[in-house]
Amino acid sequence: MSKIRNALVVVLLWSIVLTSFVSAQTRKSWTKAPEIERKVEALLKQMTLEEKVGQLNQYSYGMPTGPGTGRSKVEEAIQRGEIGSFLNVTDPVLSNRLQHIAMDQSRLKIPLIFGLDVIHGYRTTFPVPLALSATWDPTIVQRVSRIAAEEATSSGIRWTFSPMVDIARDPRWGRIVEGAGEDPYLGSMMARAYVRGYQGENLNDPQSMAACAKHYVAYGAAEAGRDYNTVDMSERQLREVYLPPFHAAVDEGVATLMASFNSINGVPASANQFTLTQVLRGEWDFRGFVVSDWGSVGELIPHGVANDLATAARKGFLAGVDMDMESNAYFEHLAGMTKAGQVPQAALDQAVRRILRVKFALGLFDRPYVDEKNAVTTLPPANVAVARDAAEKSFVLLKNDASVLPLQKGMRTVALIGPLADSAPDMLGAWSARGDAKDVVTLKAALEKRAERDGFRLIYAKGTEIRGTSEAGFADAAAAAAQADVVLLALGEDASWMTGEAASRAFIDLPGNQQQLLERVAAAGKPTALVLFSGRPLALTSAAARVNAIIEAWSPGVQAGPALERVLFGEAAPYGRLTVTFPRSLGQVPIYHSVLNTGRPPVGLDLTRPPTDGNEKFKSRYIDEQNVPLYPFGFGLTYTTFDYSAPQVDAKEISVDQLNAGRAKLSITAEIKNTGSRRGEDLVQLYIGLRGTSVARPVRQLKGFRRIALAPGESQRVEFTIGRDELSIWQRDTKYAVEPAELNIWIAPNAQSGTPVTVTLK
Ligand code: BGC
Repeated sequence: MSKIRNALVVVLLWSIVLTSFVSAQTRKSWTKAPEIERKVEALLKQMTLEEKVGQLNQYSYGMPTGPGTGRSKVEEAIQRGEIGSFLNVTDPVLSNRLQHIAMDQSRLKIPLIFGLDVIHGYRTTFPVPLALSATWDPTIVQRVSRIAAEEATSSGIRWTFSPMVDIARDPRWGRIVEGAGEDPYLGSMMARAYVRGYQGENLNDPQSMAACAKHYVAYGAAEAGRDYNTVDMSERQLREVYLPPFHAAVDEGVATLMASFNSINGVPASANQFTLTQVLRGEWDFRGFVVSDWGSVGELIPHGVANDLATAARKGFLAGVDMDMESNAYFEHLAGMTKAGQVPQAALDQAVRRILRVKFALGLFDRPYVDEKNAVTTLPPANVAVARDAAEKSFVLLKNDASVLPLQKGMRTVALIGPLADSAPDMLGAWSARGDAKDVVTLKAALEKRAERDGFRLIYAKGTEIRGTSEAGFADAAAAAAQADVVLLALGEDASWMTGEAASRAFIDLPGNQQQLLERVAAAGKPTALVLFSGRPLALTSAAARVNAIIEAWSPGVQAGPALERVLFGEAAPYGRLTVTFPRSLGQVPIYHSVLNTGRPPVGLDLTRPPTDGNEKFKSRYIDEQNVPLYPFGFGLTYTTFDYSAPQVDAKEISVDQLNAGRAKLSITAEIKNTGSRRGEDLVQLYIGLRGTSVARPVRQLKGFRRIALAPGESQRVEFTIGRDELSIWQRDTKYAVEPAELNIWIAPNAQSGTPVTVTLK
């Protein structure tokens, strides 16, 4: 019997492996489909030089940067085949009208492709991407991005400028909110999940949209966290940290990439032959197309690598940017330069081919229009339910002294204080597409209902404005706290001004006078929980010293209130874990978990006090701050506690040759026990560190994670297997390989805890 069962399990497992392999192949099949290639070539042959250039030209609808003087002339430009794509058309009636001009009145009837920043939902707004990453759950990301695709395509949008897969390690950078945090391993998983969600099983499905991995590349490493700023980094850093999520997206079949604004080692990313052609096309065999960022071809002039728009066009184009978003550089100059022999005809054909390939793959030639009657205008209840679930799972419990959370039954009075308690627009977060603040249920709205149902009194006081300076509301806030059994403080950032693009902050504390408000409220001495709404890690040391609990809620989307209510009252337990490190203070920034050791690590020193002598001082440390963050990567509490045993390995030595040949694997296990009194889930993380290699390696690097659920007192042995993929390092000549080394392995609940087990790679 058990033999039969085992055989069935094996068959089942194989069929899962096979199905996912087959579906990965189907998902990517458009990249090399003979019938698509035939159609592309046939069409290409009929195109004039001007029509070819037209395909490379993208405008934002209604912007005066198009040919002629704006909107009135755009229609004629479509007729002439001078525009390949629009962004920012969200009205299906308008999109059909423009598409009809392309399909009925242009000579070759090449459909337009409409793109939009659908970043975390279209009509239904989900948590911001940084929050979604905190779920550490690619299935949630895939579901959310699939829904975004279903809703957006119903309005004719078949292309989203998402996912942003930029690794970000500097919380000053406002766009840290748009990505999956600091780690390339997790970032690559999330990149894949987004692409699978948006593009579905088949790009040709009318509910699928082309994804766009952006911003290629290293945009998140802007110096000093100032948006658009310079990036200077080693090829190793680029290849090991910043490129992997893009590579993962390409491997998953992503249809497009967006070239970024920044320069890399002096060469702007939008004119970077090395990244755009050598790596992307040469090494990764990317077959889709690259769009510039907004005006980034024109920006080659202020960067200082072109003195006029014609040179900018030539440099951007020859480096590998296929479509020009809003610079008008290709439209004005590419045809002329091709005629003059400054741009090879073959290069032009190649770029057009890539764009047509995606248009054919999407089925736009066969189904160019959208059914206007079917456009999603109100929020589908099923999508709202997913929004609540995703939000619930994205919250990270950072502190919970004396188990203030979950809130106890039988409270008589709850004070809800702060400018984020009832601010619907801030719940939507940066880039909310067609999100509408009217659809948001705020924390205040959710708690009012709850108070009625459960029979407690809710006192609300706004206290101050998000960026306020007036203390006029402080007295009311303090009075509310004085009357309450428990205080909830809803504080944080103004999502549209302080998070997202062009929202770099030089100070990362609570904005305005919110810290002062917090201190006034905390002085009441009541159990106080801070519910923090932010698009980045804030420096919370002073805040954490005054409150009993902190829950990071990010920008949670339309279901902010109901999701928070469930977690605060314990109907759901905190599930999220940090994907970015929270510093103790701004001076530690940039701060991230996978650092090198340096030659002078302050191992064993007490860093909580200043150095007293030269032995203590001449170490890699601050004289006035600890080295460790306030909350490390991977960290997050829940309503129970867990104990981790020391990890065990199945071999203390392992052959490097066998590893490199893909013939050896190492198994690591640890026993995890629920030591609390509630059922709960933990995110078990695997980290490795290599010593004795040809180049210095990070002390710890994430290489795996697994979620487990345990009843009180229950324990489970968790196993990870690692091999060549996890242990290889980038070597200039032989690319990636495993080297002889001492390998440390941790199985731990975050990047800062646990004791390693050591294995020799020889
Ligand atoms: C942003 C991109 C965005 C584009 C189009 C740019 O300013 O950097 O992320 O996709 O605008 O809206």
